[in-house]
Amino acid sequence: MTNTIFLITGASRGIGRGLVETFLARSNITVIAAVRDPASASSQSLQSLPKGESSVLVTVKIESTSPTDPEAAVEILTKDHGIDHLDVVIANAGISDDFSTVHEVPIPVLRHHIEVNSYGPIYLYQAVYPLLKKSKTPTFVGVGSPLGSISGMEQRPYPCAAYGPSKAILHWIVRKIHFENEEFVSFIADPGFPQTDMGNAGAQAVGLGKAFQTVEESVGGIVKAIDEGTRESVGAQMRVWDGSQFPW
Ligand SMILES: NC(=O)c1ccc[n+]([C@@H]2O[C@H](COP(=O)([O-])OP(=O)(O)OC[C@H]3O[C@@H](n4cnc5c(N)ncnc54)[C@H](OP(=O)(O)O)[C@@H]3O)[C@@H](O)[C@H]2O)c1
Repeated sequence: MTNTIFLITGASRGIGRGLVETFLARSNITVIAAVRDPASASSQSLQSLPKGESSVLVTVKIESTSPTDPEAAVEILTKDHGIDHLDVVIANAGISDDFSTVHEVPIPVLRHHIEVNSYGPIYLYQAVYPLLKKSKTPTFVGVGSPLGSISGMEQRPYPCAAYGPSKAILHWIVRKIHFENEEFVSFIADPGFPQTDMGNAGAQAVGLGKAFQTVEESVGGIVKAIDEGTRESVGAQMRVWDGSQFPW
């Protein structure tokens, strides 16, 4: 049986690590874990995650701000690992380091959020596109956020003038991919407010003890959307972990 091949960025911790763990535990899966520092203890520890029968883990380096890392990773995957297609690519790596209003957000901070959260997934998509086109079921998922929503802004009235616009760009790109490729399933996955480093830091910034969902709950919701979603049922949507949709 041919392995289903997943590529997940930001795989070292949080949601990305949870996605790697879930898919790798299944049989006949190849998981490509993209991390920015393959030598870090958290990246190295991915190797000891339980693997399903005939499943394989490959680690590659992708720093989101690098225009060349995704292409270099694709070259290593094709030449050294015999990867000839990708079935599911999840642009998950991201940052949220600032809680400014628009009138105070430092432009370098806004620029850095856009470099990581917007340009990163675009560099990634451009590099993996030829391999996704070779899949029978090409799926491109961006891990986004209601904080990047324009029409749902009233529902998330939090200061996020660097993070919000950076996710809005990601949302636009991922939704556009759906319309540009009639064979792709492309959607935004909203993990909710999971108890990751990012989620808990955000919770503390607004006076809460910790974020709301366990990593398992958020990851489970994203995995269900990938497993069961079709172009018709999830394509071009901002799909929340609990199965609902959030407005763009
Ligand atoms: N947590 C939330 O409340 C929440 C809500 C909505 C959406 N999201 C989105 O969910 C995704 C995952 O977030 P998380 O909660 O799992 O966050 P996290 O625990 O902080 O993990 C972030 C991941 O992104 C990687 N990363 C950060 N900057 C990077 C860069 N410049 N290049 C490559 N990788 C980089 C980190 O790698 P290192 O280990 O090397 O730092 C780590 O693997 C993000 O896109 C985030 O915006 C999160």
